[in-house]
Order: sequence, then C-alpha cells, then structure tokens
Amino acid sequence: MIKVNFNAEVDKAQAQRILAEIKKDAMGGWMELPKKYDMGEFARIKEAAAKINEESEYLVCIGIGGSYLGHRAVIEALRPKSETKIIYAGNSLSKRELEWALEKVGDHDFSINVISKSGTTLEPAIAFEAFKKKLIEKYGAEEAMTRIYATTDAKQGALHDEAVENGYTRFVVPDNIGGRYSVLTAVGLLPMAVAGVDISKLLEGAAEAVETAVEPALNYAYMRYTLDSKGYDTEMFASFEPATVYFNEWLKQLFGESEGKEKRGILPDSLIYSTDLHSLGQYIQDGRRNLFETIIDYPTDDLNAKIVAAVRIAHTEGGIPVLNISVPSFDEKGFGELVYFFELTCAVSAKLIGVNPFDQPGVEKYKLELRKLLEK
Ligand code: PA5
Repeated sequence: MIKVNFNAEVDKAQAQRILAEIKKDAMGGWMELPKKYDMGEFARIKEAAAKINEESEYLVCIGIGGSYLGHRAVIEALRPKSETKIIYAGNSLSKRELEWALEKVGDHDFSINVISKSGTTLEPAIAFEAFKKKLIEKYGAEEAMTRIYATTDAKQGALHDEAVENGYTRFVVPDNIGGRYSVLTAVGLLPMAVAGVDISKLLEGAAEAVETAVEPALNYAYMRYTLDSKGYDTEMFASFEPATVYFNEWLKQLFGESEGKEKRGILPDSLIYSTDLHSLGQYIQDGRRNLFETIIDYPTDDLNAKIVAAVRIAHTEGGIPVLNISVPSFDEKGFGELVYFFELTCAVSAKLIGVNPFDQPGVEKYKLELRKLLEK
C-alpha cells in the first residue's frame, strides 16, 4: 500500500464531491477500470502478445504522449525478460531518430503496434508509414497486415478506418479514457505483455489501489494545493532509481497536461538522484525557494537509502518542503498501485484548482497549427 509521510488538511465533504464528479465524468473511465477489466479483451491481449513473441525479435511501438509514455515507464523500470525487444518510434518528428529506429530493426523479424486514440496525430502517422513500408517489403502485403496491431478509437479516425479496411488486429482506447490516463488499457497492456511484464499483477496492484490509494491521494492532492497557494509553484519529482526516468516523464506529462490550463497549475519537473545531485542539486539546495520536492521512495538498497535520508535532511534544512511517497514494492504490483495513485492525485489536484483534468486544448492547438502549416 502506498504511504505518504505528511498530513494535509483535507476538506472531506469537498473531496467526496470531487471524487463523485470524476467518477461520473465522461472521461473518468480509468477510475473503476482496474476492478472490472474486460477479461475477454485481457485474453486477446495475452494471445496477441504470445503471437508477437513467437514471430518477432522486435516490436515497434509507435505513439506519442499518453500513447507511449506510461508503458515505456513501466517496461524500462522493470526491465522484464522477453525474446522480443521493444523499439519506440513516432514520438518526435526527427528524421534522424526514425532512420535510426529503421536501421536498428534492420533485417530482424518484427511487428508493429501503432497506438493513437485520435488516429490522426502526425508524429506516429509518419513513423507508421515508414515502418509499414518496411514490413510490406520484408513480408509482402498479405503477411505484413497480420503483423500490425492498431490500438485506437473503437469507431472513428484515420487509423481506425485503415485498420478495418486492412484487417489489422485491433485494440480499443476506450471512449471514456484519455491518453495519459490509458496506461492500464490495451494502450499499455499489449506492449507491456510483449516486453514480459506480468500484466495480471499490474492490474491486481491497480485494483487494490482503487480502494487503498484514495486516502493518500487525497492527502497528497490537498498538500500540493496548499503548497501552490503558498507560492511553491514547481514540483520536482525525485527518484533514486535511474530506471524510472520514463516514469518521471509520464508524471510530467500527466500533471502538466492535466493541470497546466487557464494560467494555473504547478510546473512539474523531475530528478534522478544521486546523478542529479551533481547537476541540479545545487539549485534545489540553494536556488529560488519556489520549489517543493516529491520523493518517490522505491524500496532500495542500504546505501541508496542513506542517500535518500541525507537528501531529505539537507533539502528540508535548505527550506524546501520535501514530501515522501513510499512505494511498497519495485515490481508489477507496486507500479500498478503507483500509476493509479498518481492518476487519482492528478485528477483531484486539477479539480481543486478549477481546471478540467481530462482535456488538453494546448496540445490540440499545436497539432492544428502544424497541420495548417503542412497543408500550405
Ligand atoms: O494525454 C493525451 O491525451 C495526449 O498526450 C495524447 O496521448 C497525445 O497527444 C497522442 O494523441 P493520440 O493518441 O490521439 O495520437
């Protein structure tokens, strides 16, 4: 069970109202999902993962933002064992990166999991075209179509239409779950299963968190709100495990896209210690005092634990509020709990500052402007 080491003043009646609002929000589907996951779909995911493992040395995961950060976070943290390696593509518009990914796959056997809820995002669309071409050249059109797995909207979008027309294996991003909240749907579960993550344990951890994470998440959300109102407008997520770099990246996306609206929201940033004690450590200790630090305290070895304790003392003495979130285990169950805990904290936090946790008008604006320029 996730534990926090602080006690915020939680307005219980308001908190209950907010939880009820999130639950009935058109985009609140993630809230109960781990407890009532469709086991038919779960079996299809396992089956597809087994097929990919059998016939591919690489799975190319194409997607951006919420369509890749969450599963990459768990896969890179746990470093599970699998015959199939995951390669990520379509998360930038860098031609260099795309060429590198194509080269890396080289002549190896591969499959593609293209993930895009809207089915129209440019970065994954371009990478998908390039890898699809490679797939067709290698296997011929007919077999290539059996090696493409599309995770997208159930009914609409360019990717959906193409998948139906060509008979790709399809998985659905539920209507009521947005990108950054979709880690525990097929968006995350298929690549994780292929990579060797025990997705049953992951969902088990998340399902437990549906009950057990509520209290610590409310506590944390109200603490963030209080700190923000006192001028602590930047949150540094700190981890002492280098393998969790991508978990930090997902956190930045989750909080940044959910809260950063209408000129409000805490700016999320992240640190990996002790590495960053030798870069940003100076600033944290002694720079502007608008920061608070949230230590994600994974179970660790004795020496690392000493560094956690030393950092806590030093930064507290330096005038930084240091929050501690202790994670019960560094495994699938622990990450299932953690994902759910942060999703819940984030949704409640956004509600507390009066913004919609589930839209991303700023992201949509950039997508629109880019399309307009390209059409010209
Ligand atoms: O969290 C979000 O909603 C976004 O970050 C999206 O995941 C991202 O923009 C990719 O969108 P799509 O899955 O539609 O390609």
